[in-house]
Amino acid sequence: MKEQKYYYISTYGCQMNVHESEKLAGILQQRGFLPAKEQKDADIIVFNTCCIRESAEQKILGNIGAVKPLKKEKKGLIVAVCGCMSQQSKMADFLKQKFPFINIIFGANNVEFFGKYLDTYLSQQKYQNMVIPNEDYIENENGVKIQRDSTMHAFVNIMYGCNNFCSYCIVPYVKGREQSRKASDIITEVKELVKMNYKVITLLGQNVNSYHSSLDGKDVDFADLMQILCDIPGEFELRFMSSHPKDLNSKVIDTIAKNSKVSKYIHLPVQSGSNEVLKRMNRNYTREKYLGLIDEIKQKIPNVILTTDIIVGFPGETDQDYLDTVNLLKQVRYANAFIFMYSKRKGTPAEKMENQVPLEVKKQRIHDLLAIEHQISDEIFTALINTTQRALVEEETDKFYIAKLQCGKVVKLSKHQVSTNVGSFIDVKILDYKNGDLIAKI
Ligand code: SAH
Ligand code: SF4
Ligand code: F3S
Repeated sequence: MKEQKYYYISTYGCQMNVHESEKLAGILQQRGFLPAKEQKDADIIVFNTCCIRESAEQKILGNIGAVKPLKKEKKGLIVAVCGCMSQQSKMADFLKQKFPFINIIFGANNVEFFGKYLDTYLSQQKYQNMVIPNEDYIENENGVKIQRDSTMHAFVNIMYGCNNFCSYCIVPYVKGREQSRKASDIITEVKELVKMNYKVITLLGQNVNSYHSSLDGKDVDFADLMQILCDIPGEFELRFMSSHPKDLNSKVIDTIAKNSKVSKYIHLPVQSGSNEVLKRMNRNYTREKYLGLIDEIKQKIPNVILTTDIIVGFPGETDQDYLDTVNLLKQVRYANAFIFMYSKRKGTPAEKMENQVPLEVKKQRIHDLLAIEHQISDEIFTALINTTQRALVEEETDKFYIAKLQCGKVVKLSKHQVSTNVGSFIDVKILDYKNGDLIAKI
C-alpha cells in the first residue's frame, strides 16, 4: 500500500490569500495528500506569502528559514513558496538564493497551475520556478477544486488585480490589472454554495465596487450582481470586501439597505483624514466626499456597523494631518479600525517621496490612535446592551455557544440558558459587554 502523504499550508495576508490557499488545499487533496496538524508532520510545506508591508515579509522569511532543519531531517520533504512575494521575479530569485532548499516557486496569479507544477516536480525531482508574469495571466479558476476551510463561511472571488495604484501600495504591481470574473460563473458558484448550506458568502476583490461584467447582453455592475445573488432562494448572508470610497455609490448603498440578505456591515478603508495626504496617496476622494458617503450610509442603513483601514506616518504626514485622521475617526465612529504604520514598498511612488516620517513618530501615532479607537469600539459595543441582534451560531464549547454578529464580533451564549444549533441564525438579546466579548441570550 502507498504511504499516506500530508500537507501543511502557511497562509499570510488578506482574505484573498486565505481563499487561494483553499484552492491549493483542493489541488493537494486531489493528489491524495491530507492536511497535517503540524508543520513537522508534513511531506509538503507550502508558504502562501504576502508582501503588503515589510513586517509581513520579514516574518515570512523567518518562517521559511525555520524549515531548514526539517528539510535536513526528512528526506523527500517538498517546500513550495507562492503568493504575492514570489510573484515578483526578483524576489523569487532572492528566495531561491537565500533558501536553496525550496523546491517549487510560483506566483500569486498561478495558483490554478499548482497541480501541474507539483506533478512535474514529482516526476522530475527538479527545481520548478514558474512565475507567470501578471500581464500574461488569464483568469481560469473554474474547474479548480476548492477545499473550503469552513462549512459555514465561503469566499467567492468576483475580481482579480487592482487598477488604483494608491501611491503606497504594491498590490497593483504584484496582482496586475483589474479583471472581473464572469457574472454567470459567480452565480453558478454561489447557487452551489447555497445548495451546500453555506450561511455566509463573502464576495472578494480589491475594489468590489468597480466590478463590471455582463449577463444575457445586459451590463452587470456590483449593485446588479448583489441583487441577482440576493434573489437566489435560501437562507444565507452576503458580504463583500473591500470597498473603495471613490467607487462606492448610492446604487450600491440602496442595494445593501433594501436586501435583508446583505450584511449591514461595511468595511470602508479611509487611510487618512487629511486631504493633503489623501491626494499624495492617490486615493481620488476628499475627506468631505468620504464623510458624505458615511452620512448617506448611516441615514439609509440605520444599524450599520462600519470598519476601516488607516495608515499612519505616510510620507509628509504632519501633526495636523494626523489630527485630521483622529477627528475623522471620532466623527465616523468605527466598530473596528485596522491601523498600520506606513511601510516603504520598492517601486511604489511613495517610496521616493520626501519627508519620510521617523519610526518613533509612527509608533507614537499608531499607539495613540489605537487607544482612541479601542475606546470608541468599546462604547459602540456597550451601547448594544439591551438591543436585539442577529447572529450566526458558529461554535459550541463546554459552557457556551459562540455566535458572531455580521461584523465578526463574538457573542457568547451561556448553554444553560439557551438551546440552539451550530449553523443557525438567531436573534439574541445582548446582556453585557465584557473583556471584548458580548454576552447574550436568545
Ligand atoms: N484593496 C484594499 C486593501 C488591500 S491592502 C483596499 O483598498 O481597501 C489592506 C490595507 O493595507 C490597505 O487598506 C492599507 O491600509 C494597508 N496598506 C497597503 N499598503 C501599505 C503600506 N505600504 N504600508 C502600510 N500599510 C499599507
Ligand atoms: Fe492597494 Fe489601493 Fe488597490 Fe487597495 S485600492 S489594493 S490600497 S492600490
Ligand atoms: Fe498581501 Fe497580496 Fe493580499 S500582498 S494583502 S496577500 S493581495
